[in-house]
Amino acid sequence: MKTLTIAVIAGDGVGVEVIPPAKRVLEKVAKLSDVAFSFQDFDWGSRHFFRWGHMMPAGALDLLSPCDAILLGAVGHPDISDHTTLNGMLLPIRRAFDQYANVRPAYLFPGVTSPLAKFRGGDIDFVVVRENTEGEYAQVGGFVYQRQPEEIAIQTSVFTRRGIERIVRFAFDLAVKRGKKRRVTSVTKSNAQGYSMTLWDRVFDEVAAAYPGIETESLLVDAAAMNFIRRPESFDVVVASNLFGDILSDISAIVIGSMGLAASANLDPERRFPSMFEPVHGSAPDIAGQGVVNPIAAILSASMMLDHLGLSDAAVKVDRAVAAVLEEGKARTRDLGGTSSTEEVAAAVLEKIA
Ligand code: NAI
Ligand code: MG
Repeated sequence: MKTLTIAVIAGDGVGVEVIPPAKRVLEKVAKLSDVAFSFQDFDWGSRHFFRWGHMMPAGALDLLSPCDAILLGAVGHPDISDHTTLNGMLLPIRRAFDQYANVRPAYLFPGVTSPLAKFRGGDIDFVVVRENTEGEYAQVGGFVYQRQPEEIAIQTSVFTRRGIERIVRFAFDLAVKRGKKRRVTSVTKSNAQGYSMTLWDRVFDEVAAAYPGIETESLLVDAAAMNFIRRPESFDVVVASNLFGDILSDISAIVIGSMGLAASANLDPERRFPSMFEPVHGSAPDIAGQGVVNPIAAILSASMMLDHLGLSDAAVKVDRAVAAVLEEGKARTRDLGGTSSTEEVAAAVLEKIA
């Protein structure tokens, strides 16, 4: 039997509430498949920061490196600046392991009411592919005259031909693999950002030429934001830069009913390093510690991990269990209009896995 080592970073806030259900789901499907998981829990994040002054210890990346995958909850604490938590752990992991493709599916499950109520389950089904290592998140820049009246901040975006080409190619390959609408939408702001985004447009067109069977569309990010709400059913694979992909995938998360359903994968498609799987949502301090957070986003992220690890049958088992619970509508957390606890929803999903 194959044993896979999974690094687990539950992190902050609701992260510690949604990761245990995801682990239980993985343990249950492992029993039904020919695989075992060895979880290595790392107590990194804000508590680590308060004690030691950094989000994760020196050498943390070396501990993660030999693992088959990383399962992450969320990071972020109201008493630490968000750029410290993000640049102290999440972004270094994404960059060090070259997890350049951030895949964020938006699927409206039958039984869930979209705020766009005219859509029925299954009508909305697309994926946001976010460039995950460069662009606006490159963290290149600095301060001049720091903390003086003439203070200047410079934050430079970094767009490389290699970086754009590989994420656009990934998006086209995903459209082929999904075999659904066979459509790739590129999102830029080339009217205002005449260097980086026009490079993106050119590379997009070059890559698109190699996929004659895939329909293409280019949208400016503001129009894309509107169209995610106006015509969500028209999208299949949407590819965007780091910042635009981040923002748009919060819109896609709410279009499918709740942030609590939005899963994501940070992939190194070349499989040189461990990939990382995490819900799209953050540490949700407004509801943390109450036992009411929706665990489904974390559970579906674990399912994306199973798929990446070659356990697609197990992933289908998890997806079906989640779909059954949502369609039945008995166990539902508050974000979906129900009154169930995290524990009750997790138990309902576990029971349906067979
Ligand atoms: P958030 O995603 O934590 O919460 C946004 C809203 O959605 C809140 O009202 C929250 O209660 C609700 N929500 C989120 N997940 C939910 C779930 N599973 N079930 C039910 N309701 C849910 O975003 P926010 O409030 O902007 O950020 C909070 C902290 O999280 C910040 O420190 C931020 O930096 C961090 N953050 C971390 C991310 C990560 O670890 N990848 C991603 C986004 C934010
Ligand atoms: Mg985000």
